[in-house]
Amino acid sequence: MAPMPASGRAFLLALALLLVVPSCGVAEGLSTGYYAKTCPGVESAVRSVVARAVTAEPRMGASLLRLFFHDCFVNGCDGSVLLDDAPPGLVGEKGAGPNAGSVRGFEVVDAAKARVEAACNATVSCADVLALAARDAVALLGGPAWEVRLGRKDSRAASQAAANANLPGPGSSLSSLLAAFAAKGLSARDMTALSGAHTVGRARCATFRGRVNGGDANVNATFAAQLRQSCPAATTAGSDAALAPLDAETPDAFDNGYFRELTQQRGLLHSDQELFGGGKSSQDALVRKYAGNAAEFARDFAKAMVKMGNLAPAAGTAVEVRLNCREPN
Ligand code: HEM
Repeated sequence: MAPMPASGRAFLLALALLLVVPSCGVAEGLSTGYYAKTCPGVESAVRSVVARAVTAEPRMGASLLRLFFHDCFVNGCDGSVLLDDAPPGLVGEKGAGPNAGSVRGFEVVDAAKARVEAACNATVSCADVLALAARDAVALLGGPAWEVRLGRKDSRAASQAAANANLPGPGSSLSSLLAAFAAKGLSARDMTALSGAHTVGRARCATFRGRVNGGDANVNATFAAQLRQSCPAATTAGSDAALAPLDAETPDAFDNGYFRELTQQRGLLHSDQELFGGGKSSQDALVRKYAGNAAEFARDFAKAMVKMGNLAPAAGTAVEVRLNCREPN
């Protein structure tokens, strides 16, 4: 992007400071028709870019969905996860433990944003582009569609500390998963439905090594033995990065296969299997219900995605419509 004159930067900074989010926690003022007059083509612009990317590589749909979760759980859906370590002094969230070496999809967000900027300059936030991309990704993989409420603004800062603190890890117990989601105003039912995102995508051996190498009792023995072939107990750089599908049965289809796998003790991550403890988990009944009723899962997932998408930055956060999703204006 061409360098902007100092006066332009000063104007954008002043604008950013004026755009202060009114409430803490849940966004006010989001609406499905937010860009109806200012950027009527935004939804089709994002969809066409995401469709091309997901057709070329179905896993990209999963990666975009995860990116949205990692945005929303860290100081609200404000595009903070998209920021690079730039300008000097800004420490982005990409280097946080739950993100480093595993979050992906930034080039697709950049391409969608570029398409949107070409149609309506400086109008649509990166946070909204990501919200639309996640919705489109799920639909393209065969999952439910929902109306995305728009009008989010982009943060001018990131928080690696908040990313480390707020994003649950693969070793989490059920009680810590429930607490992490409750801290965001999301119920146990929302948590279980949203975990169903693991019906698509891949995870690195580093995140499930313990589970398949004797560290877990609640695991199907044949399943663990298969995974040990590419994810042995001994840590090596190569095996750390070896990928396995989060839903072995249908890894690129957004269906209820993940829940069926849980009922067979075939959840890939320890945190996945915590949702179904063979009679000991408070989520057992819901997991069984979703395993047997794809429509109910689809409905609850869409509802919970809307709820998660309403998470907003704290009051007083300086925000803007970022021009380049990787850097504040
Ligand atoms: C419940 C707590 C959750 C935990 C502990 C968790 C943890 C993880 C981990 C460890 C990975 C693999 C990352 C790696 O290879 O390093 C992963 C992948 C993934 N997560 Fe989650 N996650 C959770 C919830 C969610 C939610 C709520 C969503 C979306 C709504 C989501 C979407 C995904 C997707 C789609 C992938 C695959 C990404 C890809 O293939 O690029 N996760 N998750």
